[in-house]
Amino acid sequence: MRKKVIAGNWKMNMDLSESINLISGLKSALKEKKLNCNVVICPPYISLDTARELVKESDIELGAQNMYFEDSGAYTGEISAEMLKSVGCKFVILGHSERRTIFGETDELINKKVHKAILSKLIPIFCFGETLEERESNRTFDVVKKQVVEGLKGVLHSQMESIILAYEPVWAIGTGKTATPDQAEEVHKFVRNLLEEMYNKETADGVVIQYGGSVKPDNAYELLHMPNIDGALVGGACLKAESFVKIIEGC
Ligand code: 13P
Repeated sequence: MRKKVIAGNWKMNMDLSESINLISGLKSALKEKKLNCNVVICPPYISLDTARELVKESDIELGAQNMYFEDSGAYTGEISAEMLKSVGCKFVILGHSERRTIFGETDELINKKVHKAILSKLIPIFCFGETLEERESNRTFDVVKKQVVEGLKGVLHSQMESIILAYEPVWAIGTGKTATPDQAEEVHKFVRNLLEEMYNKETADGVVIQYGGSVKPDNAYELLHMPNIDGALVGGACLKAESFVKIIEGC
């Protein structure tokens, strides 16, 4: 039985004092609640160390929004897997569409990062999804298949236990246009079948596949109760404790 994972991708929002306020708000709102899911927050790098202290003795786990695949060296501006672990990260978002489109990340680069994260015992939240143009020209399944196959190239059966997938249709990110539960489920089911072809049924059935793209308190419950949707990767609505907690309660 897959346990749902709700992750908040803060993107480039919240300075240190705002991060402290948001985490404190989340902690107190979640304190007395019995959670049906795992909760992860992915603040900007500058807040990770402080966040680690704040989430101690809570059910909130910590992730980063990106990393580089090399161990160390002359890679100005980059962050390594070990650095993320040293500030308490357990998860790392990889292949987000904003990394792909704004920063030119390729499937090949993302695949190297996926391998590095797994070997370093960080859980990748590996993102993929089609643009509006790709959907309108009926290429959704081809695009998703290519991104998943290339992003997971060389990842072993046994390593699939330590990876989360996140379907994020680009047209639904930050636009207020959510995929309908049926539209999302169709792609999630397609990906689960693809994982069965690439690995086997048992492995495919065990993989958590999150949905991301304008998840809000008023649409979360329906999305989260589709058979192949195992959680959410939340952008805008995770920046306020109240709306993030409502989404968590939708599990
Ligand atoms: P929004 O929830 O703001 O659409 O962002 C989704 C996302 O990109 C999460 O990674």
